[in-house]
Amino acid sequence: METIVVANQKGGIGKTTTATALVSILESKGKKALLIDADQQGNSTDTYKAEVEGAATLYDVLLEEDRISLEEAIQETENGKIVASDPLLRKADEVLNNDVEGLYRLQDALEELKGYDYVVIDTAPAMNSILHNCLIAADKVIIPVTADRYGLQGLAQLNDTITAVKKRQNKNLKVAGLLLVKYNGRTLLGREVKESLEKIASEMDTKLFKTTIRESTKAKEAQAMRKTLIKYAPNCTTALDYVDLVDELLGGNE
Ligand SMILES: Nc1ncnc2c1ncn2[C@@H]1O[C@H](COP(=O)(O)OP(=O)(O)OP(=O)(O)O)[C@@H](O)[C@H]1O
Ligand SMILES: [Mg+2]
Repeated sequence: METIVVANQKGGIGKTTTATALVSILESKGKKALLIDADQQGNSTDTYKAEVEGAATLYDVLLEEDRISLEEAIQETENGKIVASDPLLRKADEVLNNDVEGLYRLQDALEELKGYDYVVIDTAPAMNSILHNCLIAADKVIIPVTADRYGLQGLAQLNDTITAVKKRQNKNLKVAGLLLVKYNGRTLLGREVKESLEKIASEMDTKLFKTTIRESTKAKEAQAMRKTLIKYAPNCTTALDYVDLVDELLGGNE
């Protein structure tokens, strides 16, 4: 089983779109894949039409006193399998930072999970104890970035966190790559940022994915319709780019 975390503490950059697309495509390729929504905003949960009230969520797995297994928290929806988020995850720092093992709870839970090829985790735009849990539990991180003026903000801080986790808590962690999303190659800015990103990626000891994810209105429409992009518009440019991304990602493994 491989655990892939989609992370960038900058908001609205394309994490949820990337995580939901990845997991849909992996499933369509016959892999057993699970999405975990680790963002208290619950955008993936909403897209999947998963239940929060009265249902088991990531909160029960990570923060509840009588914690349950991930298996028990999985919901089967028309969009696929998901462990839903919960607004109560906002209490995470309070609980997890006061427990010596607090940062390892997701890792423990994932170790018990059987029968999946891939677990993809959507994260919040925040540097918090849940992101730490994710980075400690993960095999790979994908970092979506955009080619606008502020798209690279916070990357150095994220890199410092990842480096620290690699050194102390998870030697296995690898940044699979920076992923240029919402890309519009027609603008000069876009092309310039792409070049500088290759440099930044190599400084971060990773690469810029060859695949770039183009901008399209379908991505926004899909979110509004509460469907993953792959289910809503499987043949739009953005969806096809994500298929290429999965091929690039699996290329190293298969
Ligand atoms: N390739 C794309 N083309 C056009 N719009 C996109 C694309 N990818 C994402 N979007 C849109 O950008 C917005 C933010 O995307 P998304 O929700 O995936 O970001 P996020 O990083 O998960 O945000 P947050 O930090 O709030 O969790 C959404 O409206 C989404 O539909
Ligand atoms: Mg999101």
